[in-house]
Amino acid sequence: MYDFTQDMESILLDEEALHSVISELAARINHDYGDSQKPLVAIPVLKGAVFFATALLEKLTLPLEIEFVSASSYRAATESGELTISALPQRNDWDKIDVLVIEDIVDTGNTLSAMVAQLKKLGANVRVAALLDKPSRRKVDFHADYIGREIPNAFVVGFGLDYAEKYRNLPYVGILRREVYESSKD
Ligand code: IMP
Repeated sequence: MYDFTQDMESILLDEEALHSVISELAARINHDYGDSQKPLVAIPVLKGAVFFATALLEKLTLPLEIEFVSASSYRAATESGELTISALPQRNDWDKIDVLVIEDIVDTGNTLSAMVAQLKKLGANVRVAALLDKPSRRKVDFHADYIGREIPNAFVVGFGLDYAEKYRNLPYVGILRREVYESSKD
């Protein structure tokens, strides 16, 4: 059995903390969308947001649909690379729906600002929920509507977040030890 904790500098959010952060976000979202007359479409961003989205969506007491988009920018490194956003879901009712984009983390802000711009262009009423936010890393002016927790500038993994596609399945969010990614550069 592999002990993942040996690769962590520290645990930032354990299972209990994740549960309470996500419950608080869900309560706010339930409150804010409770009176909306428009259908709600939740759009988790693959792959990182899957764990967060599942935990969040099961706590929403609103009728909703789920669509997916995928975005990648990290490409097996800890620094942002070129951004790729998959085609948005094929729908003809964008101007009649509320869209809740669900993302794991806001870093430079490039991914979400590009995605939100595309959705707004289609006429959607868009809000964004992100589990984590690293405001000190921002390169574009972007603010998510719902943020679980602001974190310092550190590379984190777990609960959907990866380093080179690994660690997504950890039930907690931890800061990855620098030696783990620096040794794999060789
Ligand atoms: P942004 O476009 O720079 O805001 O990057 C957002 C994406 O980068 C996220 O959806 C993550 O996939 C990835 N990312 C940013 N910071 C981290 C991190 O600390 N750990 C793992 N992935 C991260």
